[in-house]
Amino acid sequence: MASANPISGSKELGSASAARTKASLAWGAVANIEDLREIAKKRVPRTFFEYVEAGSYDELTLRANRIALDALELRQRVMVDVSSRVQSTTIVGQPALLPVVLAPAGLTGAVYPNGEIHAARAAQSHGVPFCLSTMSVCSIEDVAAAVEKPFWFQLYLMKDRGFSRSLIERAHAAGCPTLVLTMDLHVEGQRTADVHNGLGIPPRLSLANILDIAMHLRWASGMLWSKEYTFGNLKDAIRNSGNLGILSEWVKQQFDPSFERHDVEWVRKLWPGQLIVKGILDPQDAEMAVAAGADAVLISNHGGRQLDGAPSTVKAFPGVRDAVGDRIELLFDSGIRSGLDVLKALALGARACFIGRAYLYGLGAGGEAGVRKALSLISEELDTGMALTGVTDVKAVPRDVIVQ
Ligand SMILES: Cc1cc2nc3c(=O)[nH]c(=O)nc-3n(C[C@H](O)[C@H](O)[C@H](O)COP(=O)(O)O)c2cc1C
Repeated sequence: MASANPISGSKELGSASAARTKASLAWGAVANIEDLREIAKKRVPRTFFEYVEAGSYDELTLRANRIALDALELRQRVMVDVSSRVQSTTIVGQPALLPVVLAPAGLTGAVYPNGEIHAARAAQSHGVPFCLSTMSVCSIEDVAAAVEKPFWFQLYLMKDRGFSRSLIERAHAAGCPTLVLTMDLHVEGQRTADVHNGLGIPPRLSLANILDIAMHLRWASGMLWSKEYTFGNLKDAIRNSGNLGILSEWVKQQFDPSFERHDVEWVRKLWPGQLIVKGILDPQDAEMAVAAGADAVLISNHGGRQLDGAPSTVKAFPGVRDAVGDRIELLFDSGIRSGLDVLKALALGARACFIGRAYLYGLGAGGEAGVRKALSLISEELDTGMALTGVTDVKAVPRDVIVQ
């Protein structure tokens, strides 16, 4: 039996499974995302593993996301022909073989060497979009050179609008069809683990961090061949960009609290492709995103990493859906750890889900193969869930799949 882990928001295994994972889980025996998490925990230096795990402050919202998803009950239907089940869909008009997007995550290349490229390749082989973060280690150009299919780009709008414009132009030049504009990080929610581990601004390289890295030789030797060591997209923005401390300080100053609807309109005018506004929890904000020209809104609390005390996305979703769901595509994230979670989000009215930690655990566990494993697990779980709820197409999941 699995139960909610109050810290990670993921699931902990019962005693038999826990004993097995402690004794080192064989790759072939990986049964769920929690197994990938256990492997990643061993393979990724603690500083970066905890960076992935953490929520902000008391982690109330991080926990609320899981509690709310777990509380949704699925309506079992068995008197229905489910011999044909379709997972392929479109997300903002683009084809996807699974209603899932790999969410933008800063410093993915610190979880696994060249992590952004590994994740993008896994997404490509599974036919789902990969969204590269502004704060990635590998740059837009690094990823574009390493994959054949287009990927998406996530934008943090910087105070330096000239630089923001150049990021938009670079993403367009790289062939990205979709821009994800993140609205909920104009100030940064503090993550306690990052402060303790020295992953702040500027970063602190303590003896504990050095020992931690020394104990993860596989990770450290992979890092020797990494394409980048700082924020690849930003390194040209300032001189001395090889210095992570200076670069981090620049980034902190560049987050823009004045950012509002007119800036979304500004981005809309510059961006010729699909535009997704990320970080929406409130119906009024959703209305403003629609008015500014968004093609979709991503109902997200940043995986519980920003406003601690914000509602879970399960709780926030219906308000946004009722306000704008008839005019715009709705996307869901924060807390997804399985295909059954994806099914629940689709039943709420989402077109697709972004997943963050679920794939980052796979990445930390085994690079591209680990992310592919995470996607396979989610696809298989979704398929089983569909079969047992009488659902035959992810594009038409009825609301009453969730027990009212
Ligand atoms: C380690 C980590 C880094 C993240 N970095 C970014 C980022 O750079 N830009 C962004 O828009 N969201 C970022 N997010 C939020 C994710 O895009 C997504 O909203 C969140 O992970 C969803 O929650 P989940 O991890 O429970 O699936 C990050 C999340 C994590 C876990």
